[in-house]
Amino acid sequence: MLLDLDRRLDSVFLSSLARTMRRRNLTYLSPHKLRVLEGTMKELNDRHIYGDYLEFGVALGGSAILIASNVAQGYAFHGYDVFGMIPPPGPKDDKRSHDRYNEIRSGRSHGLGGETYYGYVDNLYDRVCESMAKHRQPVDGKRVHLHQGLFEETLDPSDTKPVAFAHIDCDWYEPVLYCLLSIQHRLVPGARVVLDDYNDCGGRRSAVDAFLERYGARKFMRLGRREPNAILERF
Ligand SMILES: C[S@@+](CC[C@H](N)C(=O)[O-])C[C@H]1O[C@@H](n2cnc3c(N)ncnc32)[C@H](O)[C@@H]1O
Repeated sequence: MLLDLDRRLDSVFLSSLARTMRRRNLTYLSPHKLRVLEGTMKELNDRHIYGDYLEFGVALGGSAILIASNVAQGYAFHGYDVFGMIPPPGPKDDKRSHDRYNEIRSGRSHGLGGETYYGYVDNLYDRVCESMAKHRQPVDGKRVHLHQGLFEETLDPSDTKPVAFAHIDCDWYEPVLYCLLSIQHRLVPGARVVLDDYNDCGGRRSAVDAFLERYGARKFMRLGRREPNAILERF
């Protein structure tokens, strides 16, 4: 019951920027997930844990705008995405993920608020740049960077300063595990990684579990077990 009440208060506690991102159909994240992102970034700030902020899975840019707007002075935001059709799931993803991908690929997917599904938009990268500029997070290659292409091709951890926060929101097993393995050595002590929809089962959960099996006890603690997401803290 307390959890229910807490969820009903999600929208009340969101920043006006987070509410704007939802109202303008720029993010798929629920009010609760946005509140978790904002709360996590605030905690890092309160604890003076600084570093670059990363997002894997930008889509329309709503969560990227929110994350970029929380980056501390002297640090940068890096967003990674193909900015086009999502790559296919793999053998470790469940049937639901494959069904979802087949629906997207068939051209039958609907966008937020009745708009065209973002994966079918030709100039998505430009549209995201426009949205970021409009919300005071211009992609200037200094404070705000967008890396277009497969993570496996664009993610070079030496592009970033040590990392204090990452949001991994990329749906399937392989990219989730790839991103975790690629950034784990760049995380500062106390850094947090928010993994979208861990408790939704499927490949995302197996990827996080596989990662924790390898590094969990030595380097990471899992927080917020009742969340739909998993939150990892680097020791
Ligand atoms: C669920 S969406 C992100 C949603 C977004 N964070 C929001 O607030 O609405 C997942 C994104 O991950 C991207 N993605 C998935 N796998 C990828 C990969 N291997 N390389 C690059 N982008 C990938 C997709 O193209 C898609 O835009």
